[in-house]
Amino acid sequence: MSKVRIGVIGSRFQADCVVGAAKAVPDEVEVVAVASPTKGHAAEFAKRHGVARASTDYRDLLRDRDVELVWITAPNRLHAPMTIDAAQAGKHVVCEKPLCMTLEEADAMIAACHKADVLLLYAEELFFTPKYVKAKQMADEGAFGRVHLVKQGEKHSGPHSPWFWDVEQSGGGAVMDLGCHGIAFCWWFLGKPKIKSVYSQMATQVHGDRTRGEDEAVTIIEFATGAIGMVENSWNRPGGMDDSIEVFGDKGQTYADLLMGNALPTYSEVGFGYAVEKAATTKGWTYPVFEEQWNYGFPQEMRHFARCVRGAETPIADGETGRVVQEVLYAAYASAGEGRKVILPFQPKGVGKPIDLWKKRPSTRSS
Ligand SMILES: NC(=O)c1ccc[n+]([C@@H]2O[C@H](COP(=O)([O-])OP(=O)(O)OC[C@H]3O[C@@H](n4cnc5c(N)ncnc54)[C@H](O)[C@@H]3O)[C@@H](O)[C@H]2O)c1
Repeated sequence: MSKVRIGVIGSRFQADCVVGAAKAVPDEVEVVAVASPTKGHAAEFAKRHGVARASTDYRDLLRDRDVELVWITAPNRLHAPMTIDAAQAGKHVVCEKPLCMTLEEADAMIAACHKADVLLLYAEELFFTPKYVKAKQMADEGAFGRVHLVKQGEKHSGPHSPWFWDVEQSGGGAVMDLGCHGIAFCWWFLGKPKIKSVYSQMATQVHGDRTRGEDEAVTIIEFATGAIGMVENSWNRPGGMDDSIEVFGDKGQTYADLLMGNALPTYSEVGFGYAVEKAATTKGWTYPVFEEQWNYGFPQEMRHFARCVRGAETPIADGETGRVVQEVLYAAYASAGEGRKVILPFQPKGVGKPIDLWKKRPSTRSS
């Protein structure tokens, strides 16, 4: 299999992650181009990572005949237009989470890729996270009997870039940013069953001076099988990224703490270089994680997507996956706005961004 040649749009946090994953599977892929608008950023990124070409305009990357697969690591509001442009340029696309801002955009992205006969892949790395994959393998084997409750939580002290806090660019707060992982996870873990209803409690507890988005939320997903998914998200947890699952069946259960459970409980009076994503300090007690990328499943995701492009594997996370998540995001915000569970299908038209279903309602505040 020849290497899949990737062009990365964006040159900051997630772009570094994509290149890191690519370097971990060098026989499968090569990052050959990068584009991001801030002068010097793409060039510096290219130099740092040994990427051949850099540009300030992503359209240059789309014109690059060497690029087969475009990996979008730009802010959420740009995912749909970039995907559609990439498809029209004949490139396969990987879109980072969440897929986009609206269901209309999701449909347009899927249609554009279908029309151009290119893949639309959805970068949900939790489908590849080794510890979570092991939990799913045991569940599928019957280790826990009938699984009736799956919980996933993702919490940290708040995003690193200003655009996440601006709901016009992000579409919402912690649920849009982190909850999209948990929604996808619960659905995938349980075998992608039909979703019956969604209930969400959202509030802006700490960061009201900084964002209109929710910084704290609990979302409950009811599946047609009777099983429940519970997703906890927060931008108010200092101490580094917290990502964990709990799985309960009538014959057993399992728990997994993705990062602290694979870390070295460490005490240092002087500190050291790096412990884990979003940890503000390395002094005192910390949980430095090893092989962070591998623990998340980024190289495994990269290998799968490369093989999908070569026709050797069938995507397990694609545009349709992102659309399922998008509908649940809509339902979660509407539920928080209305104070009741929302029955699916829930596909209102003309929504500007998911958080409008919560915050634009005149009768609602943080509920
Ligand atoms: N899978 C994950 O776990 C994960 C983790 C972090 C971020 N993400 C997702 O990745 C995306 C990027 O997040 P991030 O943390 O890297 O953000 P970031 O702010 O660190 O980087 C965003 C990049 O997009 C670039 N950009 C902005 N406008 C652009 C344009 N018009 N053309 C080209 N590039 C443009 C910026 O210059 C920057 O390089 C988001 O959608 C986010 O939700 C996914």
